[in-house]
Amino acid sequence: MNIEAVILAAGKGTRMGSKHPKVVHKILGMPIIIHVLMALPRRVERKWVVTGHGEEDVKAALASQTCRRVSFVRQPKQLGTGDALSAALPHTSAPHILVVPGDMPLLKKSSLEALVALHLSQRWDLTLLTVELDNPKGYGRIVRAGEKVTAIIEEHEATPSIKDLKEVNTGVYIFSRQLLIRALPELQPHTPNGEYYLTDLVSWAANRGISVGSSTLEDQEEGMGVNTMEQLAAATQVLRKRKNLTLMEAGVNLVDPCSTYIETGVKIGADSIVYPWVYIQGTTEMGEDCEIHCHSKLVDSKLGNRVEVLDSCVIEESVLEDEVRVGPMAHLRPGTHLKKRVKIGNFVEVKKSSLGEDSKASHLSYIGDATLGKGVNVGAGTITCNYDGFHKHQTHIGNGVFIGSDTQFIAPVRVESYALIGAGSTITKDVPGNALALSRSPQKVVPGKGMAYRREKHKGGES
Ligand code: UD1
Ligand code: MG
Repeated sequence: MNIEAVILAAGKGTRMGSKHPKVVHKILGMPIIIHVLMALPRRVERKWVVTGHGEEDVKAALASQTCRRVSFVRQPKQLGTGDALSAALPHTSAPHILVVPGDMPLLKKSSLEALVALHLSQRWDLTLLTVELDNPKGYGRIVRAGEKVTAIIEEHEATPSIKDLKEVNTGVYIFSRQLLIRALPELQPHTPNGEYYLTDLVSWAANRGISVGSSTLEDQEEGMGVNTMEQLAAATQVLRKRKNLTLMEAGVNLVDPCSTYIETGVKIGADSIVYPWVYIQGTTEMGEDCEIHCHSKLVDSKLGNRVEVLDSCVIEESVLEDEVRVGPMAHLRPGTHLKKRVKIGNFVEVKKSSLGEDSKASHLSYIGDATLGKGVNVGAGTITCNYDGFHKHQTHIGNGVFIGSDTQFIAPVRVESYALIGAGSTITKDVPGNALALSRSPQKVVPGKGMAYRREKHKGGES
């Protein structure tokens, strides 16, 4: 094994003002720490995450990401970044250890790869990743004598002239194992908090004539850590822009990228158009030539090609096959499967149901726990009454069934293919194929008792 990575994630993140550990806060649908893990170089052979504060939260955030397997090390007390690495070191065995703070979601894989390559080619014992910031407040400043790095001084210990330095420590380093074995036990706690600073390894090395290498990020944004909610929002903006740019480069038409929110895991095919104020989340994937109109939200859903989602729809954990058209103002809840060319119109809610090819529910319906065959026409105001107060029940509708408006299906119930349901029916019993089912109270007509009559009567009452 050549390189192992240690991600520092045991700190409380007090400055966030949150009860959750900092690294589990999400950016574009993914915990900060996942963004960090995604940026690790390919050649890193084992990943260690140092946990402490909110350990269970951090483990839970990583548990859902089975593809990024990591090992955990516990730092019993949060005594600083130096102490965190001391906790991890005995578990590692590689000759080089890459250390990355768990709160740096904007780092790019290419930058970390370049840092590692430089460190290995120069045979340095310690190589730092630095960045020049217009506003370096809060970061450790890089102190140099000529070209040589001699120390890192933290903001709260810096003199005014040190504070003027714009080159700062990103908190990313690669160390030779030998240096860590010698230097970590020699770190001294800082007053007033008694913390051991990893940054002190730089002056430790410089004082012993060990050359400290450095690589400087070209892009300021990459060096940004998340310590406050304000920085979380700023980091979100950066990653959102990057995601939008990647999609546009792949031929996706984002009409107004500034008002389009697309999370990291989302995939969109070329020539799809995303209109302003759309939010696409989680693992959502869509094919080519789709149109997603204003104010719609898609979560963890799969859309085929040429799917149209009109304005103000909410689509969650659903599958929409090719040429499906939904909305405006429709709600597809988890477990919805719309087969090819299905049409769902305004004010229709679908849940745990599948609709066969070419079926249509164009207006004002609730379809829950139901299977509909091909070419079914669902009239306005149709409701599957799936809940009896205790249990949910299924409704089955065969192919080519025509459902008249304002029908209620009292589940469980089956309607076989090509049946016709008269408008206004309450269907409580199974309907055989090709039958007409109708349940309406007979209409009564009383001649001469309409509105003219009532008006007359009313007037009479007044006088
Ligand atoms: C640190 C650096 C600073 C650098 C900045 C970059 C030190 C002393 N300072 O400051 O030079 O400019 O990062 O963002 O290292 N952590 C632990 N255990 C602890 C303390 C912290 O695991 O006992 C973890 C935190 O969860 C966090 C990371 O280490 O992910 C960095 O800690 P943080 O408190 O954010 O350090 P900064 O003040 O940002
Ligand atoms: Mg930090």
